[in-house]
Amino acid sequence: MEPTAVPHANRLSLARKLSLRGPATIVALATLAVGCQSAPHSKPAHPAAVSLPASVPIATTPRNWPDTMSFADPLSFVTRSFHLDLDVDFDQSRLRGTATLELVRMDPNSRELVLDTRDLQIDSVRVAPAGSEDFRKTRFVLDHRDDELGSALRIAMPRDAARVRIAYATTPQASGLQWLPPSQTTGKRSPFLFSQAQALHARSLAPLQDTPWIRATYTATLRVPAGLVAVMAAEGDVGNRRGQTTFHFRMPQPIPSYLLALAVGDLEFQAVGPRTGVWAEPAVLAAAAWEFGDAEAMMTRAEGLYGRYRWGRYDVLVLPPSFPYGGMENPRLTFMTPTVIAGDKSLVGVLAHELAHSWSGNLVTNATWRDGWLNEGFTTYFERRLMEAVYGEERARLEWGVGQQDLRLALAELKPDEAWQGALAPDLALHKGQGSSAVAYEKGALFLYQLERRFGRAQLDAFLQGWFDRHAFTSVTTPQFVAELQEGLVQQSAGTIDAEFLARWIDGTGLPADAEFVQSDTLEHVDAQRMRWEQGVLATDALQTASWTVQEWLHFLNRATRPQPVARLQELDRRFQLTESRNAEIAHSWFRLALASGYPGLEPALASYLTGIGRLKLIEPLYQDLLNTPQGADFARRVYAQARPGYHAIAQSRLDQLMPGTP
Ligand code: BES
Ligand code: ZN
Repeated sequence: MEPTAVPHANRLSLARKLSLRGPATIVALATLAVGCQSAPHSKPAHPAAVSLPASVPIATTPRNWPDTMSFADPLSFVTRSFHLDLDVDFDQSRLRGTATLELVRMDPNSRELVLDTRDLQIDSVRVAPAGSEDFRKTRFVLDHRDDELGSALRIAMPRDAARVRIAYATTPQASGLQWLPPSQTTGKRSPFLFSQAQALHARSLAPLQDTPWIRATYTATLRVPAGLVAVMAAEGDVGNRRGQTTFHFRMPQPIPSYLLALAVGDLEFQAVGPRTGVWAEPAVLAAAAWEFGDAEAMMTRAEGLYGRYRWGRYDVLVLPPSFPYGGMENPRLTFMTPTVIAGDKSLVGVLAHELAHSWSGNLVTNATWRDGWLNEGFTTYFERRLMEAVYGEERARLEWGVGQQDLRLALAELKPDEAWQGALAPDLALHKGQGSSAVAYEKGALFLYQLERRFGRAQLDAFLQGWFDRHAFTSVTTPQFVAELQEGLVQQSAGTIDAEFLARWIDGTGLPADAEFVQSDTLEHVDAQRMRWEQGVLATDALQTASWTVQEWLHFLNRATRPQPVARLQELDRRFQLTESRNAEIAHSWFRLALASGYPGLEPALASYLTGIGRLKLIEPLYQDLLNTPQGADFARRVYAQARPGYHAIAQSRLDQLMPGTP
């Protein structure tokens, strides 16, 4: 069956028939594409910014690849490896140096290499034959800037060219970098720089083929001001330490561009296990090392579930609070928000999640962003399995319960014209905007849970381990998953699966009526108490919460009917100090309930929460809630104007859409 009706269906089904597997298949596709009538040429050529002498024509590459989010044309060239040699200039907020790409020419007639860039200053482009240092200048054109995609960099590639060296600099507004002054760090003494490349921001760090379809190995040299330490999601020199100013890195496993990552700051390291450790500013290192102290145990359990860890070490880097995500699965070095450091390991589901991406995402990668659920849904399922293995079944059920509620809420909040976001793999080229993340994460995970229930855990696990092994270091699509599911799981087991079941889960925009949920008696007790409390049968003082974990609190707050009478919430707040909660997730859920109920006097706490952290998942819904009322909207705009300079560019651009015109 064809689970997704899309203009690219022909290419995708072609890919599926060929069981897409990296370069070999790309060659096959390149050959086939010659006779392939259906190759879409949907992307209008971007007008060139520079006019060229006519002597060597630069062809205009149509965007003819299923990844509509990249200008790269893997039918012409594929990057095999690259080297970055960069000065980290905090005075000018720029990276400056060279990127050298080693390319394979997929089509002998290709004379143009197209790279993705965003806001890069390109100084020169030189080319050399394979293995040669004999670089000579070549012509290039930087196309007009597309707000979403950046600018295609078109490079003339003479017949013998296989290496390209680009001298360039990033610009201070690079969407994938945040340059923090010392005042925005914990130590307040040193500046800090970190990158965030997923999804389309690697192109703001370096000129690359920025599509998850292509993988490359890399090496890098970073020069930093004295006293700072550079880290990358890669192997470092043994003894990379404070006191040196040049840092060398090497990523021997091929990665998609969105996993390129670096950070520079006043960083120290503490081991938490033989293969695991934590990098952080000195003031938070001890707390972070305690919070993430189970990383080694998680790793061992993960290997027991789905096979060998293939990346060498697994370390965690704690970022300043403006980091726009909970975590980012950069290989060997997860980037982590400090909001997870709750002091009780209550939020380490994020750690399990990012570690799980070492298989689902980093090892086997969504071929395009449309297939994002293959990364996030698989990872969420894997995360819950890890939480169960390390902390027990009860904890896993609680985490499922909170996730299932997030999903119900996200689906309920979709407006009629956003219904498409309820599908697992919505066509991003057809619809403006991004899919809902709760759907990719939680509906994706729940879909795998349905398979667990139908076919049995052991069968599903064997299938998943096979999936990770067969596709290690390659990129995969949804149709490919469906095909292998039929062959690998269904035909091997006693169970059956019909096309309608798959269509309901993958294409359907809601939750199938027969969806099986993970049940939790504990959460049902929480619900029962809450309902009696809401009916006034149970007084606030009589709520039995002494044994509640953070997840039970989240469940209570997230499921509470809104609006609640203000007086009842005041009792709750007085008894449990919710406005002052230092658990970032509890505070978030409390603020949402309180805002929906017109709770007075929240402003000071809310303002300090919203200015203190930049994690989008926690702050964006609060801004949205505030914008629902005129006074709230005023307050939101005032707080945002104050907080905005401290936010990451990714957060700024998302929140600018909510509150246009904020200075
Ligand atoms: N890869 C994502 C973060 C991401 C997604 C960055 C899309 C850019 C675009 C990461 O693995 C993630 O899912 N983080 C979650 C953690 C969670 C669900 C446990 C987050 O940031 O909250
Ligand atoms: Zn994730």
